[in-house]
Amino acid sequence: MNIESYLNAESALIEAAMAAFMPEAAEPLGGHVEAMRYSLFAGGKRIRPILCLAAARAVSGELEAVDALMPVACALEYIHTYSLIHDDLPAMDNDDLRRGKPTNHVRFGEAAAILAGDGLLTDAFALLTNRQYLRLPQAAILAIVGQIATAAGSFGMVGGQALDIANERKDVSFDLLRTIHQYKTGALIRCAVLCGAIGAGASDAQLAAMDGYGRQIGLGFQIVDDLLDSTATREKLGKSAGSDAKHGKATYPALFGIEKTRNLAQEAIDAAIQSLALLDNKADPLRAIARYIFDRSR
Ligand code: IPE
Ligand code: IPE
Ligand code: MG
Ligand code: MG
Ligand code: MG
Repeated sequence: MNIESYLNAESALIEAAMAAFMPEAAEPLGGHVEAMRYSLFAGGKRIRPILCLAAARAVSGELEAVDALMPVACALEYIHTYSLIHDDLPAMDNDDLRRGKPTNHVRFGEAAAILAGDGLLTDAFALLTNRQYLRLPQAAILAIVGQIATAAGSFGMVGGQALDIANERKDVSFDLLRTIHQYKTGALIRCAVLCGAIGAGASDAQLAAMDGYGRQIGLGFQIVDDLLDSTATREKLGKSAGSDAKHGKATYPALFGIEKTRNLAQEAIDAAIQSLALLDNKADPLRAIARYIFDRSR
């Protein structure tokens, strides 16, 4: 398969769905929704929603299950986008470029950016439970909402972000560094895979395979993000480069150097693909996405 064209086609479907789920709003709320849409439609790789749909296809292969998962896929992208808006705030990573555009707070001001993040996070749950779009069994929706709330919350992404900030300019052990990455980035990526699998009615054995895969690509994704921050350019990334060193962040390159970091990322990707051993060729897109996560240039 050609991974580039696969990702482009999937992104286009997801963006069309998000545009329908979050249309422009009339006044008096128009300005607020504009700030949310500004970051949501700025581009982005859409890797979490793509993973969610790919995991569903790997299990069921039926288009209906995949279609029914579109609100779930989009809700994941809302939450991810909120995390980026807040991650860039002056009190956090203080960055001025995101997805090739000025960050949300640079464009709209800090208060509006905080609220845009709050709006995206909360609206994600409204979307997940919106009867108009609800086509999955209620038990599946309940399981999915639980997974997403946990992965995004204090024992998931928010917990990881808190650890990331608390450990700036400190000596961190390898164990702590891996934990930070597993929570701040790994949790939501693993969750995207699991939600797709749950929505498609995966067996326990399939869920266990997806869990292993999701954990490993989640960790691998952030290791490569660290690598790109220290090796790529601002133009290529569409976000600031060298931001981690500037803030004394706990990163793999800071602890291990570039070469060893690359090897550790490759190990995570290999382990992810290994986890899918019991799945047939319907899981090939998941295998290709794992390789893309390692090879990507932004
Ligand atoms: C960046 O995520 C922040 C991390 C969690 C590493 P992405 O690399 O997925 O950013 P977009 O969505 O493509 O902009
Ligand atoms: C972000 O990690 C993790 C999030 C939960 C947003 P980074 O701070 O490294 O992400 P970038 O590099 O700014 O995209
Ligand atoms: Mg950060
Ligand atoms: Mg950041
Ligand atoms: Mg980074």
